[in-house]
Amino acid sequence: MSDDVLELFPPGSRLDRDGTVMVGDCRLDDVAAEFGTPVIVVARDALARRVRDYLAAFRSRWPRSDVAFASKSFPCTAVQRIMVSEGLHLDVAGGGEILTALKAGADPARLVLHGNAKTDEELTIAIQSGVGLVVVDNFDDIDRLEHLVPAGRRQPCLVRVIPGVQAATHASQATGHARSKFGLLPDDARVAIARIENSPRLAMQGVHTHVGSQLLDVDQLAEAVAPIARLGTFDTYDLGGGLGVRYTYREHAPTLDQYADAMVEQARALLPADSRLIVEPGRSMVARNACTVYRVTTIKRGEVVHVAVDGGMGDNLEVALYDQRFEAGIVGRFDGAGEQCQVVGRHCESGDVLVAGVPLADPAVGDLLVVPATGAYCHTMANNYNGNRRVPVVFASGGSWRVVVRRETWDDLLRRDVD
Ligand code: LLP
Repeated sequence: MSDDVLELFPPGSRLDRDGTVMVGDCRLDDVAAEFGTPVIVVARDALARRVRDYLAAFRSRWPRSDVAFASKSFPCTAVQRIMVSEGLHLDVAGGGEILTALKAGADPARLVLHGNAKTDEELTIAIQSGVGLVVVDNFDDIDRLEHLVPAGRRQPCLVRVIPGVQAATHASQATGHARSKFGLLPDDARVAIARIENSPRLAMQGVHTHVGSQLLDVDQLAEAVAPIARLGTFDTYDLGGGLGVRYTYREHAPTLDQYADAMVEQARALLPADSRLIVEPGRSMVARNACTVYRVTTIKRGEVVHVAVDGGMGDNLEVALYDQRFEAGIVGRFDGAGEQCQVVGRHCESGDVLVAGVPLADPAVGDLLVVPATGAYCHTMANNYNGNRRVPVVFASGGSWRVVVRRETWDDLLRRDVD
């Protein structure tokens, strides 16, 4: 059996002697036996290593750079805590992510707050907790901040700029085009910058841009540097996130070094040498370092072989919303061979397909099925469709495991339903 099948799993994953997939030196069948299914299993040490590699990739090329993990890609305290303990900043989208970041022990000065529709409540949380950078997305953010920042204080800000880059990704994941709802077009950004520079309550730190998510062409990411460089000389240039990852055996994604080379090459050409660079990776930090284990509940053989599992779009919306392709395998027989199957979820919708076509080796009811590369945005977008109880997150490391987000209970579901 080839180890290539593990290329989509966290680095360090292996097959046990009987062919069972092991992540963080834990057998996935043992984890499933303890926590039930579906369950998201994170390779804790591989994730921490990735964080260190990210920081080193940028600091070695541009010493004054910071990596701010995009919390939205895997928003839970335990993941944020890893980022914080490895020296990262955190990109937080809204009040909720500020609160989990603080619970994770983040220094508020190392938080970067985003949002295209920030409320007074969220900005108040940000100001009161001392969030380091508020990314101004629109003129109302400026009005609100001027009203909410107490006299004698100045809130450091970045201005989010639309770079005018049409990214080759799913339309819902592209944010850099002229019609984007995020940020300001360069002419408007100039006005916002002038307002902030003249405001007694705000401190102009720099500019921000983000082209989109799951970009497999690093040149498109680097294209965003020029439009923000033209806006002037600042202390900080935040280049957003967006590096795409490999989800299937057939795909290829740029390496971290290729990405850092492309970004820093543009920075060297266009930005002040003493400025501070920030990047905000989400997906490329976490995607590969987790997988989801399901149990096969039924198999139906018609024109298509439907292998149905006990999860689906309640724990992974990437397929239904963004046409993302994944791979899957039976936990003890993950060898990439077998009959062509469609892995479907348990939800009442035909779009609830986890993998449209994948070879599975003798799938049987009761088998465990694993989908690799589910670390990004799956836990994030989990939902209660069809009374789904959101799934637990388990950290596996050195042969032992611990739950960091427990499974939702029936009681949890009923608790909010107050009348
Ligand atoms: N910075 C900003 C301002 C962002 O809006 C995002 C992602 C990131 C950084 C991180 O991007 P990444 O490195 O993860 O590509 N719900 C979609 C993903 C939307 C991404 C939103 N912004 C999904 O499930 O695929």
